[in-house]
Amino acid sequence: MKTAVVYYSFDGNCALVAEQIKAILNADLIRLQTKDEKKRGGFAKYFWGGAQVVMRKKPALKPYDFDAAAYDLIIIGAPVWAGSPAPPLETFLSAAKISGKKLALFLCHAGGRGKAMDKLKLLLAGNTIAAETDFINPAGNTGELKRKVEEWLKPLARE
Ligand SMILES: Cc1cc2nc3c(=O)[nH]c(=O)nc-3n(C[C@H](O)[C@H](O)[C@H](O)COP(=O)(O)O)c2cc1C
Repeated sequence: MKTAVVYYSFDGNCALVAEQIKAILNADLIRLQTKDEKKRGGFAKYFWGGAQVVMRKKPALKPYDFDAAAYDLIIIGAPVWAGSPAPPLETFLSAAKISGKKLALFLCHAGGRGKAMDKLKLLLAGNTIAAETDFINPAGNTGELKRKVEEWLKPLARE
């Protein structure tokens, strides 16, 4: 089963999950990066990110290499920003036009995922969502992360 993990990660949590998936499924990793990827912290980070969500921005992405047709399973991962999947995912999904694929979805958040999973699924109508899960700031507990990712992927790996 050829698997891709397409994800965005601003602070490294979704990146850790993606690395863990790669270690288990030997997946290709496609890390989305915005053209404006400068580090921000504290209030500025939340203001900048939250404003993008509210204004429904689709930030420009750096070039990436991804062909949905090349994969049997596509795993999509996003941080939750203001109750939505982070806007770079919207940029990606509006360009990639993924349809008729088997997908698995994961979110990283700080405990308030809101309706972000439903919103992500709406962007992916026309696909089969084979699995979904979410992680609360997994960078804080990498031992638990490995166990959880293994558990989550078990049914997918068997198919
Ligand atoms: C702009 C911004 C908005 C956020 N909004 C939420 C939110 O609505 N709910 C929540 O639980 N966490 C929120 N967070 C926290 C992140 O979702 C969380 O730390 C996640 O693990 C980050 O993933 P990353 O390290 O891959 O970027 C927000 C973080 C940022 C930067």
